[in-house]
Amino acid sequence: MKIEDCTADFQIPRYLHYMDSAATSLIPEPVIAAMNEYDRQYRANVGRGMHRLTRVATQKYQDAHDRVSSFIGGNEGTTVFTRNTTEAINMVAAGLDWHSGDRIVTTGAEHHSNLLPWLRLRQKGIEVGIIQPGEAGIFDIEAFEEAITANTKLVAVSHASNALGTVQPVREIADICKAKGAYFLVDGAQSVPHFPVDARCMGCDFLCFSGHKMLGPTGTGILWMRDAVISPLILGGGTVEDVTTEGYTLTGGYKRFEGGTPNISGAIGLAQAVKYLESLGMDAVFRHEQKLTDHLLAGLAGIENVTVHGPENVKNRIGVVSFTIDKIHPHEIAYLLDERAAILVRSGDHCCIPLMRHLGLENGTVRASLYLYNTLEEVDLLIETVEEIARIV
Ligand SMILES: Cc1ncc(COP(=O)(O)O)c(C=O)c1O
Repeated sequence: MKIEDCTADFQIPRYLHYMDSAATSLIPEPVIAAMNEYDRQYRANVGRGMHRLTRVATQKYQDAHDRVSSFIGGNEGTTVFTRNTTEAINMVAAGLDWHSGDRIVTTGAEHHSNLLPWLRLRQKGIEVGIIQPGEAGIFDIEAFEEAITANTKLVAVSHASNALGTVQPVREIADICKAKGAYFLVDGAQSVPHFPVDARCMGCDFLCFSGHKMLGPTGTGILWMRDAVISPLILGGGTVEDVTTEGYTLTGGYKRFEGGTPNISGAIGLAQAVKYLESLGMDAVFRHEQKLTDHLLAGLAGIENVTVHGPENVKNRIGVVSFTIDKIHPHEIAYLLDERAAILVRSGDHCCIPLMRHLGLENGTVRASLYLYNTLEEVDLLIETVEEIARIV
């Protein structure tokens, strides 16, 4: 399928221009249909029965894991379904075997979900080193060389910034981690939905991302692990091989980490979302977004009083474009964009308060985040409306 033909699959009212996909994406009809099919035709629990419906549901649930694993080149690892990226990261924070004196290295550009779980570990005597980015959210790779010391157990970095759109050199960071014997966690919430990501090639140990940001249902996320070295956060039904009243033996694979009845329709919907993305091709998705982003950056650059925060061109960048207009609060701009042109964007700190403070952006920014269903016409409308608003001051 060609990207230009897919807008019909997204049945949001035509007069709305959705540019908040970094928060959550729209969902195409085939994903909704796959979830409905489960609920209507073969609804049953998974992994714990012999009747025909449970066998169908169990197979589909397993297939969903296989499809997501291969989408990220992670067949040889363990792909655990979670509620979202936040849960996936917290599972690693809670599940690694920490010792006082261990060190974590992360950055000042992280989403709170990739920061708070590490800051909390300070209470256990874990050192947390924070590397600060330059203006456009770009890091000096030498800063990682210096910060990743011999006692560093884990390095946690987002692949692409949800606030500035900057893409980080994860392969280089992975090499440093490998040389220093540290685990490497990549927060892929803003990369996996937008360009081809191969967990193995990237060289990370953990890859966390959200299904609801990549055309899947809300309440779906993934924790991929090269080796399943963490202990599970939740124990109970489905996680065991054997149990006595004295103890238990845990099962292997993803089941060890998915205690209780999972989000079965969500998993089936997520697999369908992956199938949909594969049918478009992630290279094509990326090219489409690059074209829109390039156009948007060029348009905003020409408007007086407007500042774009993040890389100025499409190099090492996704279609998350943050900007401010002098003397107008970002929330007011977002409100006006909706009022005047039905353009839906996000405003504020984007769950990145430390980054906003570091950049001196106390009120945050306006963030337009583009995806495969956006068009050049919509980007033109955004540019025109920003120009109109900027003239108010
Ligand atoms: C880079 C990044 N990390 C983590 C998250 C948290 O994702 P979720 O809310 O799905 O857990 C987000 C959400 O916007 C994000 O952009």
